[in-house]
Amino acid sequence: MESNAKNARNILCIGAGYVGGPTMAMIAARCPQYKVTVVDINASRISAWNSDNLPIYEPGLLGVVKEARGRNLFFSTDVEAAIKEADIIFVSVNTPTKTFGGGAGKAADLQYWEKTARMIVRVSTADKIIVEKSTLPVRTAAAMSRILNANDKGIRFEVLSNPEFLAEGTAVADMQNPDRVLIGAQGTPAGIKALDAIVEIYANWVERDKIITSNVWSAELSKLVANAFLAQRISSINSISVLCEKTEADVAEVSRAIGMDSRIGSRFLSSSVGFGGSCFQKDILNLVYIAESYGLDEVARYWESVVLMNNYQKRRFVSNMISTMFNTVADKRIAVFGFAFKADTGDTRESPAIDVVKQLIEERARVVITDPEALDNAKIDLAGCLDKVEMLSDPYAAAQGAHAIAICTEWQQYRELDYKKIFDSMEKPAFIFDGRNVLDHKKLFDMGFNVFSIGKPALKHF
Ligand code: UDX
Ligand code: ADP
Repeated sequence: MESNAKNARNILCIGAGYVGGPTMAMIAARCPQYKVTVVDINASRISAWNSDNLPIYEPGLLGVVKEARGRNLFFSTDVEAAIKEADIIFVSVNTPTKTFGGGAGKAADLQYWEKTARMIVRVSTADKIIVEKSTLPVRTAAAMSRILNANDKGIRFEVLSNPEFLAEGTAVADMQNPDRVLIGAQGTPAGIKALDAIVEIYANWVERDKIITSNVWSAELSKLVANAFLAQRISSINSISVLCEKTEADVAEVSRAIGMDSRIGSRFLSSSVGFGGSCFQKDILNLVYIAESYGLDEVARYWESVVLMNNYQKRRFVSNMISTMFNTVADKRIAVFGFAFKADTGDTRESPAIDVVKQLIEERARVVITDPEALDNAKIDLAGCLDKVEMLSDPYAAAQGAHAIAICTEWQQYRELDYKKIFDSMEKPAFIFDGRNVLDHKKLFDMGFNVFSIGKPALKHF
């Protein structure tokens, strides 16, 4: 039986998270001729995918899910049955940074991937195409191929890499109209055949010249490198923000000026309290680990500095707050506006707000957190110190009686608040620390606020 033929029709995705869920919803919506099943061991996640209250907040996603759910898109916990039925299996299980043993703090924890691979081998009764859809260090596909193909059932698994480049908050638009789709495969006849089957899926809605192919290792490495380059731009501009604060320059003016050089480009040059998200730090640390494992110390140190600069940016945001507020925040109420790692998501993985809040708690501030989507995740992130923080969905209530507001996420609604009303309800002198440079600083200053932003001169009344 040849189920990895070009007309394979049953697609399965293992792992219904931020990557697997939205990607499969888009494939199902755009390709009604395929049956797409998404499975996860987490039953509550699956029931949320089957409801109108999706497990992740992503603008526009519910519409895409509803287009296909029940027609050719199914969410289930029956992993084994789904594996048996599938021709093509996307694996989108989590690959967090290892917290134990060799490579702890840098290498990817591959236990979920390996367990999944072993289950695929155990359950399968026919050939399958396996597509790596989560970030993994280079050469993992080769290891997976060895595990999968070391079976005595005569079944052949072709392992491909199809890295995901969507960004949270804009996932639907990114998937609908991607800059490129990258598929890595082996150059063997079986590899090329499997590659064709995956290209055929995306070609249903992505222009053919945007679907690019490479060898498996290049595809895996490209994902790490794309994220490392993007994060590097943010750390680069953040390093300049420190210099701007000490001098007469304004980092937004510098960003605009350099970004108009078409060789540099204008995106990803917004200075901030620091980058977060599940990918940037993890992928750079992976790159560092890979470089180290080949003895490439200079390469490792070069990329590691991107993460170190980000840590510095998060730390100095809080130390600036403390020194500005007369060297103590103990017992002062501080309202943290935004806990998500960026706007338009409820995701808080590696969010700079986590570090900001933890540092403020250490300094014994009375922290109040507000966020339109991320408070449930904030409760998990701060599980060890929930008695020391308050969480309120209403930003006006959060700011009431506060000495300072710290903007940690660039939610549009924070630009539109009645800051005069907020000012009147706060302790004086009232401070705003705009960690995202999103507010109208001059206007706030004229209202009476002392305004501190990233990479710009402070506006203060004393
Ligand atoms: C990123 C990549 O963009 C995406 O291609 C990949 O698939 C996954 O990782 P994501 O983490 O969802 O996506 O968000 P992204 O928009 O890249 O933002 C990451 C972090 O950088 C956020 O904390 C954001 O606020 C911050 N950022 C972004 C800045 O501080 N300044 C900028 O100019 C841009
Ligand atoms: P990502 O951002 O990479 O999508 P997530 O953590 O959001 O990561 O999603 C990964 C999903 O994979 C989780 O919902 C987790 O329960 C699921 N998962 C992990 N291991 C397995 C497994 N062996 N079988 C099925 N699902 C799994």
